[in-house]
Amino acid sequence: MAPLWCVVPAAGRGTRVGGDLPKQYLPLAGRPLILHTLDRLAAHPLIAGLMVVLGAGDELWPSVGLLGSKPVLTAIGGAERCDSVLAGLNALPSGVGEDAFVLVHDAARPCVREADITRLIERGVLAGGGLLGAPLRDTLKRAGADGRSHETEPRDHRWRAFTPQMFRRGDLSQALRAASAAGVTVSDEAMAMERVGFSPLLVEGAEDNIKVTTAADFALAEFLLPRTK
Ligand code: C5P
Repeated sequence: MAPLWCVVPAAGRGTRVGGDLPKQYLPLAGRPLILHTLDRLAAHPLIAGLMVVLGAGDELWPSVGLLGSKPVLTAIGGAERCDSVLAGLNALPSGVGEDAFVLVHDAARPCVREADITRLIERGVLAGGGLLGAPLRDTLKRAGADGRSHETEPRDHRWRAFTPQMFRRGDLSQALRAASAAGVTVSDEAMAMERVGFSPLLVEGAEDNIKVTTAADFALAEFLLPRTK
């Protein structure tokens, strides 16, 4: 099959890590976090190019134009992740048709495995779109404002959603626009697609595809990087 473009939202400020730098530029094993993620995506044989979505006024982007033989383009993102993804979709080269599948992958997930990306693409194409995730293994509690557990939620049929997520360019753009018009901030692409009646395929992926969010996650990601190739 023809290789796919991948939109990489990287316009967040990453305030949960602490410090002045947005988290995507904090060092992981001596290099900015985002470069690890981009390297891994660009090395995948089924990925054609990367559309990195940066924050307005980002002066830290190292102006990567090409990774291996893959083009790396940039767009300017918005206030929420979903605004950034839509901006990235809009900026894709015109050769990427409305019916073409595109991937979306968080800049903050550097440990994604090549084999999981391959499985998502192979299975997701047949299903019309899907996402990597994993069934929930912990017991889930509903917390009250008092910091106490008030209820235990059922765990059956509950999944954690990861990225990459994969949908057709036109379908995903329309679904994101519809959510925005309705004033709904979707937290991932699959949520936008669910709102318009599509049921994305859940493809089980390795749980070490962590989203680097806190300072402790940097140490964990550094441990995982060489072990998740
Ligand atoms: O904040 P969170 O970790 O959920 O962000 C997930 C990804 O979305 C990160 O790679 C972040 O840079 C990106 N993002 C974005 N535009 C925003 C907010 C987050 O591209 N407005």
